[in-house]
Amino acid sequence: MISLPLLFLLLNLFSFTTAQQPYVGQSTTDCSVSDNSTSVLGYSCNGLNKTCLSYVIFRSTPPFTTVSSISSLFSVDPSLVSLTNQQAIIPITCSCSSNYSQSNLTYTIQQNDSYFFIANNTLQGLSTCQALEKQNNVSSQSLLPGMEIVVPVRCACPTAKQVREDGVKYLMSYNLVFGDTMDIISQRFGVNTSKTLEANQLSFENPRVFPFTTILIPLQNPPNSSLILPLPPPPPPPPQSVSPPLLSPDSGKSKKTWVYILAGVLGGALVLSVIGVVVFCMLKKESKSREEARNFDSFTSKKPPMSNQELDPLDGLSGMVVESLKVYKFHELQSATSDFNSSSSVGGSGYIGKINGDGAMIKKIEGNASEEINLLSKLNHFNIIRLSGFCLHEGDWYLVYEHASNGSLSDWIHTTKSLLSLSQKLQIALDIATGLNYLHNFVDPPYVHRDLNSNNVFLDIEFRAKIGNLGLARSTSEDFVLTRHVEGTRGYLAPEYLEHGLVSTKLDVYAFGVVLSEIVTGQEACELKKEIGEGNEIEEVLIRGRLLPEGLESYVVRLVVDCLQRDHLNRPSMDEIVLSVSKILTASKSWEESSY
Ligand SMILES: *[C@@H]1O[C@H](CO)[C@@H](O)[C@H](O)[C@H]1NC(C)=O
Ligand SMILES: *[C@@H]1O[C@H](CO)[C@@H](O)[C@H](O)[C@H]1NC(C)=O
Ligand SMILES: *[C@@H]1O[C@H](CO)[C@@H](O)[C@H](O)[C@H]1NC(C)=O
Ligand SMILES: *[C@@H]1O[C@H](CO)[C@@H](O)[C@H](O)[C@H]1NC(C)=O
Ligand SMILES: *[C@@H]1O[C@H](CO)[C@@H](O)[C@H](O)[C@H]1NC(C)=O
Ligand SMILES: *[C@@H]1O[C@H](CO)[C@@H](O)[C@H](O)[C@H]1NC(C)=O
Ligand SMILES: *[C@@H]1O[C@H](CO)[C@@H](O)[C@H](O)[C@H]1NC(C)=O
Ligand SMILES: *[C@@H]1O[C@H](CO)[C@@H](O)[C@H](O)[C@H]1NC(C)=O
Ligand SMILES: *[C@@H]1O[C@H](CO)[C@@H](O)[C@H](O)[C@H]1NC(C)=O
Repeated sequence: MISLPLLFLLLNLFSFTTAQQPYVGQSTTDCSVSDNSTSVLGYSCNGLNKTCLSYVIFRSTPPFTTVSSISSLFSVDPSLVSLTNQQAIIPITCSCSSNYSQSNLTYTIQQNDSYFFIANNTLQGLSTCQALEKQNNVSSQSLLPGMEIVVPVRCACPTAKQVREDGVKYLMSYNLVFGDTMDIISQRFGVNTSKTLEANQLSFENPRVFPFTTILIPLQNPPNSSLILPLPPPPPPPPQSVSPPLLSPDSGKSKKTWVYILAGVLGGALVLSVIGVVVFCMLKKESKSREEARNFDSFTSKKPPMSNQELDPLDGLSGMVVESLKVYKFHELQSATSDFNSSSSVGGSGYIGKINGDGAMIKKIEGNASEEINLLSKLNHFNIIRLSGFCLHEGDWYLVYEHASNGSLSDWIHTTKSLLSLSQKLQIALDIATGLNYLHNFVDPPYVHRDLNSNNVFLDIEFRAKIGNLGLARSTSEDFVLTRHVEGTRGYLAPEYLEHGLVSTKLDVYAFGVVLSEIVTGQEACELKKEIGEGNEIEEVLIRGRLLPEGLESYVVRLVVDCLQRDHLNRPSMDEIVLSVSKILTASKSWEESSY
């Protein structure tokens, strides 16, 4: 039996521990540390209700300086927002998301933004860089202008104790400015200081708070704008204005008028130029502070965020690259694909859709897409699929490519009725060889595709081939590279790669040989492999269907056999292959003409 006083004590202890939210303190300034003994990731969901109405103060910062931009940032009715002294009290709905009490905003990344800048400067402490990073699962360094992120705004619902004992209805998230103390704030909002301290797990012995952090103010009534004081005035602009030259009073009258006009013009010009200088300096300051905040961020995040190397996707992506690509909004991709409906799916993680009237192929990439983005944005070749842009949403990459409307090559060659003419097939082979030749010999440094197969070749409306899925492509600065990690598609992998992890352009030559035999025979790579494994000669397998005219057969067979040489040094190079295939194509065209 528990005695009544003990039970009471236990209850009291319980309510004591849940009645408060730890103050975030100075942990907001070190983005690399998310010390969960503070509320740096958000206030915990210890409220009586899991969802409640709450209030925040938003101090207007560019680009949110008007009622309409602020109300759309917070998705509230503009009539609920009134800007007083460049500050607005905003009602928000606070609810629980994975243990943290928050209200979500959607924010579009600006030039030079960082999580620290968004949390500290734009939202003035209403969020933290740690919470932003956790919520979005993207490192601060990878933020790109135009990207949309979710901003968890710090808020909390009153605990049972606060409701019961103090009649608290709302906890207002108040972000402190210079000069604020717990006493001053409590007085202004008409709250007993001990209640405000308690609400933030602070005490009279330790009441210290810092600007640009949030505290919770327990309120019985909704706050109103009469409680908002003007912000401390901004530092005065540097003394640049030069007073206009004084005129001597004893000049002649007409001369005087003339001088006045001149003075007016000069003075006007001077005022304009001073305004110009001031505006310029202000803009400069703005971009400088963003830049500083960014440096601050990267300086303090010493270890890679989430300590996951995969999560540093765009570190190597240069500004140039980003500018040449479009950053899509997630909702654009959703409407293009009817919200990634299966009817838009083209197998795996690929989707077909229309963006601004143009066909597009959208691929969701698991893991790091920066290699592929980096490579594709450097390439410009008719036979390599073009990347038009990308979107980063909740940590997943979506790449948007040009749409090759006839789908993948494998859809066309493995059907029973062969719909492609011989010269179309050879043109496709030539296109593939030309694309690979570009990768091997015209890109600096050269690249190996590493995953060429008939699913990764796409056909446009005129059945011209474009090589896609360059996610495994690697540069080979030296002629040969060794890898321990064998990736690619079964049936297409060269023996030296499978056995020794040897990577060279001859890997693609081997895979090209396999694709060419698929094109010629209509059989799938693994079937072909199996037949050859069962002791059939490649030649036999290739000519069995009698799909090629006799005059061409021997050339095609020799090319395939050469490409599939076991010793990679005996395989031809891509430029030699381009030459052979174009000769065969020319011959096939004259053969087709003569056979009509
Ligand atoms: C804080 O995080 C550590 C390790 O991630 C965990 O062991 C601990 O339980 C957490 N504490 C709280 C209060 O969530
Ligand atoms: C906030 O957004 C995250 C994902 O972006 C979602 O999981 C969560 O439920 C949202 N929370 C609220 C309170 O809307
Ligand atoms: C919420 O917190 C509880 C206890 O601290 C933990 O077991 C649970 O995994 C957390 N849930 C999430 C989604 O973080
Ligand atoms: C945080 O933001 C405020 C307001 O914009 C700014 O004055 C302050 O310098 C920022 N702090 C840091 C460390 O950048
Ligand atoms: C909690 O929810 C109840 C029922 O919806 C509501 O009447 C009450 O006002 C809420 N309390 C707080 C503090 O939000
Ligand atoms: C504030 O609260 C404390 C204890 O909760 C009480 O002793 C004190 O009298 C209160 N002060 C005022 C001004 O109400
Ligand atoms: C503003 O709030 C204060 C304190 O809650 C209250 O006394 C006052 O009447 C309110 N003013 C208006 C105009 O609502
Ligand atoms: C971003 O930073 C770059 C380099 O510091 C600077 O040239 C540019 O003006 C900044 N842009 C903005 C909008 O702050
Ligand atoms: C974050 O992203 C990584 C890789 O993109 C993924 O494996 C992980 O599950 C993601 N975590 C969350 C919480 O979404």
